[in-house]
Amino acid sequence: MSAGIIDGKAIALRVREDAAVRTAALKAAGVEPCLAVVLVGEDPASLSYVTGKEKALAEAGMAGRDIRLPASTTETELLDLVARLNADPSVDGILVQLPLPKHIREDRVIVAIDPAKDVDGFHPVSIGNMVIGRPGFLPCTPHGVVVLLKEMQVKTDGAHIVVVGRSNIVGKPLANLLTRRDVNATVTVCHTGTKDLAEHTRRADILIAAAGKPRLVSGDMIRPGAVVIDVGVNRVEDPTAKKGYRLVGDVDFEAAKETASLITPVPGGVGPMTIAMLMRNVVESAENRSSRA
Ligand code: GUN
Repeated sequence: MSAGIIDGKAIALRVREDAAVRTAALKAAGVEPCLAVVLVGEDPASLSYVTGKEKALAEAGMAGRDIRLPASTTETELLDLVARLNADPSVDGILVQLPLPKHIREDRVIVAIDPAKDVDGFHPVSIGNMVIGRPGFLPCTPHGVVVLLKEMQVKTDGAHIVVVGRSNIVGKPLANLLTRRDVNATVTVCHTGTKDLAEHTRRADILIAAAGKPRLVSGDMIRPGAVVIDVGVNRVEDPTAKKGYRLVGDVDFEAAKETASLITPVPGGVGPMTIAMLMRNVVESAENRSSRA
């Protein structure tokens, strides 16, 4: 048996088309959705993410304010920039690409962003609102995973979902979203301190790998027929590839597809959903601005 492949690109495209339709309506009413994208330094992976976000904005008809700063930028300078963007009524969303250079404290920058413009959903206020089910922006990757499961009509009600990884931007918020009533799963969170990871993953109806470790999940760690969602995006050296590297997930895809019933590829699975959910958050923020006007 070979698993069905989840086409994240196609599902992401539908979300982006919806954002484009809503953008057109806003623009007709005189409001142009605008995302400020801030990149500090020249990390190649970050540069490629930022370029992808800017392309998606343009395709949805939204404005992008592209801000590139040198790696030598100080924390104070970055906080001043965030304050100016917070105060700028034409900016609906502020995205500061992570990771930041070591001398800048990420948590200081994240809490400086106005929660009304926190389209990444990383601010403690956004996280708190998510946990207690109040309106607010949901973090894009976790929300994208939930939308993928819904679009693929995967039964999550009563399912046992095992999340591998506890990062602030994926594992923790994802585990939380999965226990909401609209998903209604029973969730196990595994991490680097978990004893006998395989014992847990083999019990999963839905296994979500978000550890950032290439091939952490081997075929024998997957229950036959399970749904496998691979959030990992890891660059591994590959001299035969044009760029000298290729992208792999946290799951051994070739082995997993023989055991799983459905699986996301890397690239082309969860990745495109992150950008799509960001577009949805920006348009939602602009709709909020429009309704306040
Ligand atoms: N770095 C990796 N993923 C993300 C993301 O979703 N948003 C931001 N701002 N930085 C990231």
